[in-house]
Amino acid sequence: MNDESGKPATRRPLRSSDWFSNEARSDMTAVYLERFMNYGLTPEELRSGRPIIGIAQSGSDLSPCNRVHLQLASRIRDGIRDAGGIAMEFPVHPIFENCRRPTAALDRNLAYLGLVEILNAYPLDGVVLTTGCDKTTPSQLMAAATVDLPAIVLSGGPMLDGWFEGERVGSGAVIWKSRKRLAAGEISEEEFLDAACASATSVGHCNTMGTASTMNAIAEALGMSLPGCAAIPAAYKERGQFAYETGRRIVGMVETNLKPSAILTREAFLDAIAVTAAIGGSTNAQPHITAMARHAGINLVVDDWRKAQDIPLLVNMQPAGKYLSEHFYRAGGVPAVMAELAAAGRLHGERMSVTGRSIAANIAGRHSTMPDVILPYAEPLAHNAGLVPMSGNLFDFALMKVSVISEQFRARYLAREGAEGIFEGRAIVFEGGDDYHHRINDPALAIDEDCILVMRGAGPIGWPGSAEVVNMQPPDALLKRGINSLPTLGDGRQSGTSDSPSIVHASPESAAGGGLAWLRTGDRLRIDLNTGRCDALLSDDEIAARKADLPPPVPGSNTPWEALYRAHVGPLSTGAVFEFAVKFQRISDTLPRH
Ligand code: FES
Ligand code: MG
Repeated sequence: MNDESGKPATRRPLRSSDWFSNEARSDMTAVYLERFMNYGLTPEELRSGRPIIGIAQSGSDLSPCNRVHLQLASRIRDGIRDAGGIAMEFPVHPIFENCRRPTAALDRNLAYLGLVEILNAYPLDGVVLTTGCDKTTPSQLMAAATVDLPAIVLSGGPMLDGWFEGERVGSGAVIWKSRKRLAAGEISEEEFLDAACASATSVGHCNTMGTASTMNAIAEALGMSLPGCAAIPAAYKERGQFAYETGRRIVGMVETNLKPSAILTREAFLDAIAVTAAIGGSTNAQPHITAMARHAGINLVVDDWRKAQDIPLLVNMQPAGKYLSEHFYRAGGVPAVMAELAAAGRLHGERMSVTGRSIAANIAGRHSTMPDVILPYAEPLAHNAGLVPMSGNLFDFALMKVSVISEQFRARYLAREGAEGIFEGRAIVFEGGDDYHHRINDPALAIDEDCILVMRGAGPIGWPGSAEVVNMQPPDALLKRGINSLPTLGDGRQSGTSDSPSIVHASPESAAGGGLAWLRTGDRLRIDLNTGRCDALLSDDEIAARKADLPPPVPGSNTPWEALYRAHVGPLSTGAVFEFAVKFQRISDTLPRH
C-alpha cells in the first residue's frame, strides 16, 4: 500500500501479526504458523502483512436456509484475495428456525457466545458474517458488536417465489393459511403438505417478510451490509456478485480500521426500528434489535418503539401484503425503502456504514421501481405500521404487530361504536403448546368469538428459549364458521410469517412470576390499543391474593445448555440477552494473551 507520494504508507500493525510476526515471541509464532501450512498456505503469505479475514460460515445441512453460503464462500474468498487479504473460513453453530427443538431461539445466545470466542481468540483481522435464517443474523451481529472487529454482513438471500395452483405461496404464511383450511375440512392432509412444500422453491431463506427477511433488512438498515444486499434472492447471479464485493470490501474496512462501534450507533438502531415498521417486519425484530443494541452498548427504551408507531407500511409483501421476495428485490429492496424514509425525514442519513460512506450516500438515487410493491411514503399500504408496545397489570411490556390486522378482525374487535380500538373478552389460558393442542377443541371451554386465547410458559425461561406459539388459531368449530382469528396474548413469540395480530413477548414471563402466572381461564381482559393498555379486570386485592401462589410449573431442563441458558437469560423486553455478557464491550481492543 503506497501513499500519494509513492512512498510506502506506515501501516498500523495488524492484529494477526501478533500471532504470525511476533518478534518478542518467535517461539510462539512458529507454533501458530506451522499447521496452516498443511493445506498449502506458506509462511511468506501469513507473514506478508496481508489481513486475515474470517468467513463465519453459517451454512450446513442442518442450516438449509443458509446452505447457499457453502457455495457463496468461494466468491467471498475471491473478493478477499483480489483485495489483498487471506481468507480463513470456519463454522458457526447451526440455527435452523423450523427444526431445532425445543426452539431455535435457545441457540441465538449459544451461537453468539461461540462466535465471540472465535473472533477474540484467533488471528483474525476482520470477518464476513454469513446470515440468513432468523437468528443467524442477530447472533452474529451481537458477537461482532461485542468483539468490535471490522465486520460485514453477507446475507444469503431469500428463496425464489413459491407458486401453488396459480397462487403465490410464501414460506410460513402458506402453512398458517392451509392449516386453517385443513381444520375447516376444506383440504386434505396431502394437499396441505403439497402447498407447504411448494413455498420452498430454491436455495435461500424464507421468501416472505418473516423474521429472516426482516433481520437481513435490518442488518442492511444498520449499515452493516453493502447497500442492496438483503433482498437479492439466493439463486440470482447478483448474490454471487455481492459475495465477491463483500469479500473485497472487508479488506478495505480492515485497512481503515472501520469497526462495528463506528456503525452501530443509537441512530442506526432507531433507523432499524423505523425500517422494521416500513417493511411490515416481524415482531421478533424487537428482542433482536434490542439485543444487538445492548451488546453495542446502546440501551433502547419503550419510547424508541413508540416513536416509530406512525411509520407507514411501504412494502407490499406477505404476511402483511401480497408479494414475495423476488418482487421486493426487483422493486428496489431495502435502499428504496430507506430512500422513502429519508425523503420523509424519518432516517438518520449522516451515519457511517460498511461502505465507508454515509447511509445517505449509499441510497442516493435509489427509488422504488414498482410502486405497487414498494409504495410511496405519502400513499402507503397502511398507516401507523410500527410495532405497538403495551403494558398493564399483567405485564410491564408486550408488543403487537398492527400492520397484519385483517379487515375481519378490525370490524369484529376494533370498530365498535364509541369504543374504537378497545376490546374485552374472556381469557382462555393455556400452559404451553402441548396444552393448547390438547384442549383447543375441548367443548367444555366453550370458546367463542368473545374469547382471548392466552399462552403462558412460552418465554425464555419457561419454554426454554421463548417459542413462536402465541399465534394460536381458533378452534375448528369457529374456523368452520369462518372466524379465522381470535385475539391472542402470551409470554412467547409468534412467527414472523404469521398474520396474527397477537400480543407477544409479555414480560416478565409467567415462569419468572409475571402477571400471566396468576391469570385464570374465565377472567375478563380489556385491551385498549389507543392507550397501549392490556389489563385483567380484577380487583387489586384479588390480584394480590393470587400472587401468593407459585407460578405454574414448566418442564425441566433436558440438556446442560438449557439449564445454563435459563440461569442467565433476561426477559424478551430487554432482548433476552445474557445479562452478564453485556458488560463485555469492544474486547478486540485488548489482545488475548499467549
Ligand atoms: Fe430458516 Fe425461515 S426457517 S429462514
Ligand atoms: Mg420463526
